[in-house]
Amino acid sequence: MDLKALIRDIPDFPKPGIMFRDITTLLNSPEGLRYTIDSLVEQCQAKELMPDHVVGMESRGFLFGMPLAYQMNAGFIPVRKPGKLPAPVHRVEYDLEYGKDSLEIHQDAVAPHHRVLIVDDLIATGGTAKATAELLSQLGCEVLGFAFIIELVALNGRQCLPDLPIISLVEY
Ligand code: PRP
Ligand code: ADE
Repeated sequence: MDLKALIRDIPDFPKPGIMFRDITTLLNSPEGLRYTIDSLVEQCQAKELMPDHVVGMESRGFLFGMPLAYQMNAGFIPVRKPGKLPAPVHRVEYDLEYGKDSLEIHQDAVAPHHRVLIVDDLIATGGTAKATAELLSQLGCEVLGFAFIIELVALNGRQCLPDLPIISLVEY
């Protein structure tokens, strides 16, 4: 299936010069959505990435992380923007393609011996995924790898990630 045909390009959003890759049109397609989640499962199995938990980053990481966790019989752990999680958290600051932000995870979200897979819709600079991996290492668990729908190759995001398997379904 041609996933790129289902991803909408919006120039100059949210700032001039950014070509926004809009996955709402992919989510809107029943066949596209099923194909996307099935492809992630297949690629994880091929790389023997079988986590106890899938970790998804707010907010678009939730949209793909949750169905992937369900399909893989794994639990789901949300990594959220600041001030949203109710119990004690670890926090990390990170850079975006267009700004700065922080992410938080519940301190008791995962046990040290657990194996986790980090999932997001898109990797641009890699700042979000790197920050999430840092949060998870604060918790002492094992990060198995990363999975994205979209990789913006020119931004070299994968180069700032730890040397672990990285899945991406579509490259720009
Ligand atoms: C987007 C996207 C990734 C991140 C990728 O999230 O969903 O999480 O940016 O960029 P990076 O590789 O340069 O870190 P955003 O922070 O815009 O939040 P959203 O998912 O709530 O829209
Ligand atoms: N997150 C960071 N960069 C993005 C882009 N170009 N399109 C969609 N989401 C993004």
